[in-house]
Amino acid sequence: MTAEPTPVPFDDETYAGLQKSAREHLWMHFTRMSSYEQADVPIIVRGEGAYIYDAKGRRYLDALAGLFVSQVGHGRQELADAAAKQSGELAFFPLWSYAHPQAITLAERVANYAPGDLNRVFFTSGGGEAVETAWKLAKNYFKLTGKPMKHKVISRAVAYHGTTQGALSITGVPALKAVFEPLVPSTFRVPNTNFYRAPEPFSESGDLEAFGRWAADQIEVAIQNEGADTVAAVFLEPVQNAGGCFPPPPGYFQRVREICDRHDVLLVSDEVICAFGRLGHMFGAERYGYQPDMITCAKGLTSGYAPLGAMIASDRLMEPFLSGSTSFAHGYTFGGHPVSTAVANANLDIFEREGLNRHVLENQDAFRATLEKLNDLPIVGDVRGEGYFYGIEMVKDKATKETFDDAESEKLLRGFLSKALFDAGLYCRADDRGDPVIQLSPPLTCGQEHFDEIEQKLRGVLEEAWTKL
Ligand SMILES: Cc1ncc(COP(=O)(O)O)c(C=O)c1O
Repeated sequence: MTAEPTPVPFDDETYAGLQKSAREHLWMHFTRMSSYEQADVPIIVRGEGAYIYDAKGRRYLDALAGLFVSQVGHGRQELADAAAKQSGELAFFPLWSYAHPQAITLAERVANYAPGDLNRVFFTSGGGEAVETAWKLAKNYFKLTGKPMKHKVISRAVAYHGTTQGALSITGVPALKAVFEPLVPSTFRVPNTNFYRAPEPFSESGDLEAFGRWAADQIEVAIQNEGADTVAAVFLEPVQNAGGCFPPPPGYFQRVREICDRHDVLLVSDEVICAFGRLGHMFGAERYGYQPDMITCAKGLTSGYAPLGAMIASDRLMEPFLSGSTSFAHGYTFGGHPVSTAVANANLDIFEREGLNRHVLENQDAFRATLEKLNDLPIVGDVRGEGYFYGIEMVKDKATKETFDDAESEKLLRGFLSKALFDAGLYCRADDRGDPVIQLSPPLTCGQEHFDEIEQKLRGVLEEAWTKL
């Protein structure tokens, strides 16, 4: 598919100036700045629907929704208008002992979408802060309810939960943590639900449900090893992103819920990626039929038109804060910002009006079927995911599932794939926090023509990658 011509937004001189300023002043996140000593910094200037455009006028299919964010797609004027209107009326006021209508309305709305008695909404500026908030609430709750030693957190291997020191401590990617150690103590890892790399006997038997029971039971083992009276919470994503999309085996979350109940450990569903339609529901917990004690969310809540996150807690967790002089001594200046909450309300209007969750549920099988066509390539080991959320694991040997060593992975992902995919007009992510994967999470408005474009572009680049190994 050829890129559609679009007006070049910057003349050569302005473009060169932007490149120079970016190199000299802009510290990009999780970026090897040295990679832009010679190469141009990719500068994105505009978005429209499922496409983004760079400063040279080139068009790319945004197959990652920015960063698992742009659920309703780019260029929605009504979200820009909602932001402008709110800025004019009340640009800022904090939620520190005061409220404003947009936050109140959104809190009620989010509580109504959330499963069960998750009725209490604490706004943050983003996902990491929501994770911090959940851990702090868990500790504070148990201190107030006579179990003051309950403070530890269990999370899964390779899972990503954010970069602030608490959230990073919960994160299960050692390479991201090493240079910041020592982090917040008291977090422990259990196995994730990567069935493609399940240990024996599950790799032999292929018994997904038995694997799920075993993986859930590892949480109980960890709780018992640490002592249930010291463990406050378990943080799990409905579908784990890092490592390349690990859906839960059937029954996994039900068993985790039982384990948490048995030991009075709070179940936190980290839905920073999985909420707001990514899996065809407002929350991933709904898709898998489990009841968390808290949900953390962000990203798709505003579709990225403004920054916002939230921690949603059950009535039980707020109860000790409802009387006397007790308060949750925690907050963020920009948590629940008027403009962000106005945008979130307008974003959820679009969800409802356009039936985006239904659209995902109706099209998810087509997305899967289209991506699974790639299984005929020798480099594709596994295509996995659910809803509009997929990971494609690349392997050196399909039969043995042999993965790449560090040097090969470096050459493949950083040396070739990321740039080649972008040059082919596909924005997505080649990731090696676990085994090498390509991550896909397109806007929820996408349909078959976008799935085909993703498949065709991936196919071309992966075929070329194979010849370079
Ligand atoms: C599951 C999960 N939790 C937390 C975070 C942190 O969110 P943020 O980058 O908004 O702080 C992320 C970010 O991608 C995430 O995927």
